[in-house]
Amino acid sequence: MADMMWAGRFSKKIDDTTNAFNSSIAFDARMYRHDIQGSIAHATMLGDCGIITKEDSLQIIDGLKGILSDIDNGSLELDPSAEDIHMFIEAELTKRLGDVGKRLHTSRSRNDQVAVDIRLYLRDEISEIRQLVYKLAVTLVQLAEKHKETIMPGYTHLQRAQPVTFAHHLMAYVFMFLRDIDRLDDTAKRMNYCPLGSGALAGTTYRTNRKQTAELLGFTAPMPNSLDGVSDRDFCVELNCALSLIMTHLSRFSEEIIMWCSWEFKFIELDDAFATGSSIMPQKKNPDITELIRGKTGRVNGDLITLLSMLKGLPLAYNKDMQEDKEAIFDAVDNVKLCVKTFIPMISTMKVLKENMRNAGARGFINATDCADYLVKKGMPFRDAYKITGTLVAECIEKGLTLETLPIEEYKKMTRLFDDDVYSAISLDTCVKERKSEGGPSPEAVQKQIDIAKNMLGL
Ligand code: ARG
Repeated sequence: MADMMWAGRFSKKIDDTTNAFNSSIAFDARMYRHDIQGSIAHATMLGDCGIITKEDSLQIIDGLKGILSDIDNGSLELDPSAEDIHMFIEAELTKRLGDVGKRLHTSRSRNDQVAVDIRLYLRDEISEIRQLVYKLAVTLVQLAEKHKETIMPGYTHLQRAQPVTFAHHLMAYVFMFLRDIDRLDDTAKRMNYCPLGSGALAGTTYRTNRKQTAELLGFTAPMPNSLDGVSDRDFCVELNCALSLIMTHLSRFSEEIIMWCSWEFKFIELDDAFATGSSIMPQKKNPDITELIRGKTGRVNGDLITLLSMLKGLPLAYNKDMQEDKEAIFDAVDNVKLCVKTFIPMISTMKVLKENMRNAGARGFINATDCADYLVKKGMPFRDAYKITGTLVAECIEKGLTLETLPIEEYKKMTRLFDDDVYSAISLDTCVKERKSEGGPSPEAVQKQIDIAKNMLGL
């Protein structure tokens, strides 16, 4: 193993187990591009400010670009015994350039270096996740457009409650995912301030230009306080919160799909390419994807707790505990991407069994509120109408009937206000059509929701 960068202070080499324990290269190597990007900006600024010579600056930048393309094309292998990706790249630069390479770290610490790298890395990940969630929202809107007339029961307490449409149900998720996109944008905006130049914790005595590095790296501005610059990981927490909410929405949706696939519901059938079989039960078609998404939601929430717990007792400024930020937030990012990527084609290929949805609606007394409303519209106070309808429902259950099939005489026994027109008033089609209130399930109301969503999606 090569001598440690900090060997001067030490009389012995680090113990192998300790080195392996201390090292983060196994998981921070994925930031190599961003580390090099940050170093190029830093070297440019050092040259422009006359802190190192222009020639040295240019040589360093060239050397860094060489390392970047060698890692990219696989000709430079990462050393697993290196302390972290930052040390590895700097050591490689020095191997290639000699003394010139040793000048890169002037006026910089790994503390501000790593703080900048994670931000650059996560900024790219956020934009990738944003695109995926956007695609998911578009897919759902397109599906909703086809199902404005597909009546299904809406539930509370998982009991059939009132009629909605499949489009109405899908649009509920669209608005959740639109807020998720908004949260990602918000996180990216607050994250986009540059810690580079904070040094180890207390800035530097060199006359650096933090504005320049911030601009070169596409940040909004330098972070105003150097202790804060190297100490906080609130942006990781915030991103993980946004990711946990994406997972929560996906997980609730997944839970519904799991139910809808069951023989008890049979509202949808997954495409064979997005379901799995059983090793013993030949009849099985299992919704594994959605179960895994539900399962992984717990894991992403776990990452959030890891981050919050890691931070809560840390005195300013940098502490090695903070190295633990990466595995947690990377795990959250990786799993969200995997889940959304898999969910989109599964949703767009599933078969919607409209008849079954409608039949479930027809048998669940989901028009009972409409029956009560019928009496209210004829002048009866709602509470009385509610009670009469409840009695009729009980009678139907006893006789094995529905409100649609209960004879008019039975209605009339309860109140003279009932007439033949009650049947059209409580037909599922009327119930849905008449729910025109803003945000409601009627086809026109859902169309307005689709228009709003499309507008937000720039469609
Ligand atoms: N690998 C470290 C991390 O991820 C880099 C920063 C190390 N700084 C230090 N002072 N030891 O946090």
